Amino acid sequence: MQHDKVLILDFGSQYTQLIARRVRELNIYSEIHPFNKIPNNIDDYKAVVLSGSPQSVRGDDALHPNLSEIRGKKPLLAVCYGAQYLAHFSGGNVAPSNTREYGRANLSYVKKDEPFFEDISEGSQVWMSHSDTIKTLPTHGELLASTHDVQNAAYKINGETTYAIQFHPEVYHSTDGKQLLENFLVNIAGINPDWTPDSFVDETVDALQQQIGKDKVVLGLSGGVDSSVAAMLLHKAIGKNLYCVFVNNGLLRKNEFQDVLKQYEGMGLNVKGVDASARFLDALAGESDPERKRKAIGRVFIEVFDDEAHLIEDVKWLAQGTIYPDVIESVSATGGPSATIKSHHNVGGLPDFMKLKIVEPLKALFKDEVRRVGASMDMDKALLGRHPFPGPGLAIRILGDITAEKVRILQEVDAVFINGLKEWGLYDKVWQAGAILLPVNSVGVMGDERTYEKCVALRAVESTDGMTADWVNLPYEFLQKTSNDIINKVKGVNRVVYDISSKPPATIEWE
Ligand code: XMP
Repeated sequence: MQHDKVLILDFGSQYTQLIARRVRELNIYSEIHPFNKIPNNIDDYKAVVLSGSPQSVRGDDALHPNLSEIRGKKPLLAVCYGAQYLAHFSGGNVAPSNTREYGRANLSYVKKDEPFFEDISEGSQVWMSHSDTIKTLPTHGELLASTHDVQNAAYKINGETTYAIQFHPEVYHSTDGKQLLENFLVNIAGINPDWTPDSFVDETVDALQQQIGKDKVVLGLSGGVDSSVAAMLLHKAIGKNLYCVFVNNGLLRKNEFQDVLKQYEGMGLNVKGVDASARFLDALAGESDPERKRKAIGRVFIEVFDDEAHLIEDVKWLAQGTIYPDVIESVSATGGPSATIKSHHNVGGLPDFMKLKIVEPLKALFKDEVRRVGASMDMDKALLGRHPFPGPGLAIRILGDITAEKVRILQEVDAVFINGLKEWGLYDKVWQAGAILLPVNSVGVMGDERTYEKCVALRAVESTDGMTADWVNLPYEFLQKTSNDIINKVKGVNRVVYDISSKPPATIEWE
């Protein structure tokens, strides 16, 4: 079954991904493409959205999309830079604004009975974030709405199905933003909102069967949401021809290897647990440099995985749990690779020598959609709600060199913290949490004895995608109890601190 699709042309706004998410929340499939790489199969898209941008339409480096196959031919919604672009280069005028146009504003309607604003009431709050302003509308432009500071906050172009807005409907602070997108996409563009998790599962399973046929597929399970959901989809499609490998790198959480393996077996997956802890610890011995630790783990993982794949006779495919943000980051509008902050070993796939064809059933989905797809296959809620956990595991939470004893200490500390979050009903309110073992000893006193032991940091963050994050304001009572429990139960630790840094400028992991 073909679903109506929306094309989002990205001009580099920090909010472009949010547009895609909001559209998908309406059960409409959307894709982001850079403004200068408009797909050839433009007829496959039923409507187009132009995103915002950090650039100005007045600058020499203004971004110019080729809209010849779009404007006047398809429903078009232009947001912020998009709205300014349509004005400035089509008979209107954009100039620097005199007043601050950042933050909340309220719509006042100029044009009543406009389907674009159906079910959106006078005064509705919208989010502004721009420094230029539209002074004059383009040719055939008709004003639809203003705010206190922005005269041309929304307009349409008569004779076309083109709408333009200066504010950002995709940002949550635009209270009726989703309604506005629905008005445009469903009522005006006539899109059928039928892209649901259930339909995704049915169609993906069919497509996987077509693609793979009777071939064998190998997949590396990590215990996380993405690889588990990818495995379930493939399992539904090809059953026992899916060979899952779950590698214990010795850097997982306490009891995680056994617990998760059991859970996978309970789900009917054909899964092999490979305990390679010793191999990883050997490769890490004496290494303190964060990047070299990551590289060593990546290298050993590939070796172990390759050994396992070779044991599967005639395997043709490698399945990966790649999700949409990994894909769009590699085609960013502004182009050019961004600086390597950390090398995430599991992004970028396995080396060519494996000679396997790649299958990535989740590569069109955002993380929250992966969870919904998992739920629609009745996967365990606790598995789907698991916090993200980095591929290199506790190695990047043990600062300095890694020893089996340090891993043991951190596993114990982490278990007290995570179990505590669960007991206090806080686990699901936190996006990610964990403990970090610091390379510092400090003096303490226990009973009448002087101690000189390790210090651990606790980290809990709120985030939507890990790109930015805020530390969580955990209750003092919880922190107090957790700190006591850790120091009393975990031998070798006499001090606990709580990390109150946001990302940026810090990162979520310490290494
Ligand atoms: P940072 O530390 O970059 O982390 O703010 C952002 C998110 O990415 C996770 N992370 C990783 N995940 N392999 C992974 O699968 C890695 O090498 C890796 N490094 C960091 C981190 O846990 C957080 O969720």
